[in-house]
Amino acid sequence: MAKRYFIETFGCQMNVLDSEKIAGSLQHVGMERADILSHADVIILNTCSVREKAVQKVYARLGELKHLANGREDLLIGVVGCMPQLEGESILKRAPFVNILAGPQKGHVIGDLVQRSNGNGKRIIDLRKDEDPSPLETVYIRRDNPWRAGVTISEGCNRRCTFCVVPITRGNDRARDSASIIHEAEDLIARGYVEIVLLGQTVNSYVDRVRHVNFAQLLRQLAGITGLRRIRFVSPHPSDFSDELLDVMVAFPQVCNQIHLPVQSGSTRILAKMRRGYTRERYLEIIRKIKNAPRNIAISTDIIVGFPGESEADFQDTLTLMDEVQYDSAFSFKYSPRPHTEAINFPDEISEKEKGRRLDIVQEKQKLIQYEMNASYIGKNVEVLVDGKAKSRVRLAGRMTNNKIVNFDGPEALFGRFVQVNITGFSSNSLKGNWIHS
Ligand code: 5AD
Repeated sequence: MAKRYFIETFGCQMNVLDSEKIAGSLQHVGMERADILSHADVIILNTCSVREKAVQKVYARLGELKHLANGREDLLIGVVGCMPQLEGESILKRAPFVNILAGPQKGHVIGDLVQRSNGNGKRIIDLRKDEDPSPLETVYIRRDNPWRAGVTISEGCNRRCTFCVVPITRGNDRARDSASIIHEAEDLIARGYVEIVLLGQTVNSYVDRVRHVNFAQLLRQLAGITGLRRIRFVSPHPSDFSDELLDVMVAFPQVCNQIHLPVQSGSTRILAKMRRGYTRERYLEIIRKIKNAPRNIAISTDIIVGFPGESEADFQDTLTLMDEVQYDSAFSFKYSPRPHTEAINFPDEISEKEKGRRLDIVQEKQKLIQYEMNASYIGKNVEVLVDGKAKSRVRLAGRMTNNKIVNFDGPEALFGRFVQVNITGFSSNSLKGNWIHS
C-alpha cells in the first residue's frame, strides 16, 4: 500500500502554495494524501517564522506530535519552510524526534528527502546555502483548488526592512522567467482554472531582465489570456507601486479591484526606522491615486504596533492614517523581535502590555471601519466566485472581485462558478445574502 502524507501549513499564501508543491513532490515518489493526521506515515509541518508567535505555534504542535512519534518507529516527521531556515538545527534540541529539516526552497525535493530518510532512521537536513540556485519553476504540484491557482513569479526580497526575517529565510529576490509564467497561466486556464493569484514577497518589484518585462507588463500580458476571469497579486510594496500598474488595473477588469498595500506604520519617523523606503505623505499620495482611479479598488494593509521607540504620537499617526485611508481590511500585529534582524538591537522596547493596548485600539478601529463599509452593501447585487463551504450555518461562501467574503445558501454544484448574490446582511468580516438564480 502506498505511504500516506499529511501536510500542515502555517503562515502566508506563499507557504500555502509551497505546501501544494511539497504535496506534488511527495505524490511524485508514489505517496498518497492522508485524510487525517493520524493516518499519515509522513507528517510535514510547513512553517512560518515571521513572528515569534508563529514559531511557538509550531513548537506547540511538535509537542503534540512527540507522543505520536514515541509510539511509532515508522513515522517520519519533517519541519520545513522558513522556521528551519532561520533556526537551523536548534529545532532538534527541542524536538529530537524530527527526521527532516528543509528550508523554504526545498519543496520540490521533499519527496526525495523522505525516500532517503525512509527506513534507515537517518536524519536529513537540507537548508538553503546562499550559492544554491533556487528553481522557481513549478516542478511538481498537487493543487487543492480546481478553479483558483497560485503562481510564483518571484521569491525572496532585496529590501532590508529592519524588522523582517524574509531576506534571511527566503533569500534575495529572484524573478522567474516571464515566458514560463505566462505558459503556466495559459496551461491553467486551458485546464479550467478561472482565477490566478500571482505570488512574490514584493510581487510588484518583479522584473524579467532578460526579456525586459516589468510587473505591470507581465500583469497586462496575463490579464489578456482568453478564459481568465480573475487575476490577483500579493503583496506589492508601496515603494515599487507604479502608475503603470494602476493603468493596467483600470484597463483590465480581469485584474481584481483589490490592492494589499502594507503600510506598517503611519509615522514617517517609525517608517524610517523600519527602513520602509517611503514617508507617510508618499504612501498617502499612492492611496489618493488608487482612490481617484476610475475603478473602485479595495485597499487592505498590514500594520505593526509597538515597534521599538514608537511614541504615543507615532501611534496616533497610525490611527489617523487609518482614518484617512479607510481600509477594507487590515492585518495588525504586535512587533515581534526576530533573530538576525537589525531592529532586535534597537533601544526603547515597548512593553508587551502597551503593545497589546495599541493592538486592541487598532483592531477596534478597523472593525468599526469595516462594519460601516459592509453596511453599505445592503440591497446590492454582487458577483462572487463560489469558493467553498461557509464556516457559519449558511452553506456556501464566495469572494467578490475586491476579495470580500459573501456567505449564502446554495447547492454545492455552484463551487467554482460565478454567481450573483443579493446582499441582505453583514458583519465586520463578511457579507451574507441570497443567491439570485439565473
Ligand atoms: N513583528 C511583527 N510583525 C511583523 N511582520 C513582519 N515582520 C514582523 C515582526 N518582526 C508583519 C508585517 C508584514 C506581515 C507579513 O507580517 O506587517 O507585512
